[in-house]
Amino acid sequence: MARLKLGVLISGRGSNLQSLIDACADPAFPAEIVLVISNIPNVQGLDRAEKANIPTKTINHKDYDAREKFDQALTETLQQAGVELVCLAGFMRIVTAQFLAHWPDQVINIHPSLLPAFKGIHVHERVIEAGVKFSGCTVHYVVPEMDAGPIITQACVPVKDEDTPDTLAARVLEQEHVIYPLAVRLIAEKRLQQ
Ligand code: GAR
Repeated sequence: MARLKLGVLISGRGSNLQSLIDACADPAFPAEIVLVISNIPNVQGLDRAEKANIPTKTINHKDYDAREKFDQALTETLQQAGVELVCLAGFMRIVTAQFLAHWPDQVINIHPSLLPAFKGIHVHERVIEAGVKFSGCTVHYVVPEMDAGPIITQACVPVKDEDTPDTLAARVLEQEHVIYPLAVRLIAEKRLQQ
């Protein structure tokens, strides 16, 4: 069976990208990464892709005077590569409704909290400050409202009394690397129902 063609969008370290690269290295995994795009030049994630012989492109948002034009450049580049599913992996830009209109139900994101709790940024600081006992991560479909789309899968971790944002982030990240490939597999195998 043909493998689902993924385009992965990153802004930095790319450890979630790495989890997808590693999953796709198994010929039995039902997806493959055909393109990695970063909006920031020279980030670690681009090195990870190059090491795995995956084509990369930097599309710097600062080169565009409007969000829509940046998103149009993303869309054209993804289309040229034949991308079928767009995976946001630490991509720290909000995509426009116009972008999503080009990719209906074809854009997913990973977020380091148990959505709908703790949307947005500085998640782990806010989790600790709130005193909740569990946190986690979520893979969800992207809709115009930030971090609000239908949930595909989640994983839960304990928040320990002695946690700092960094120790909690590391515990959550470990689970991110498990659930992102799982979510891609569920989609590629058409095992999700809307
Ligand atoms: C991950 O923790 C991801 O969940 C988060 O950024 C980190 C990227 O790490 N994403 C968001 O906060 C999106 N709002 P990575 O570059 O090593 O994958």
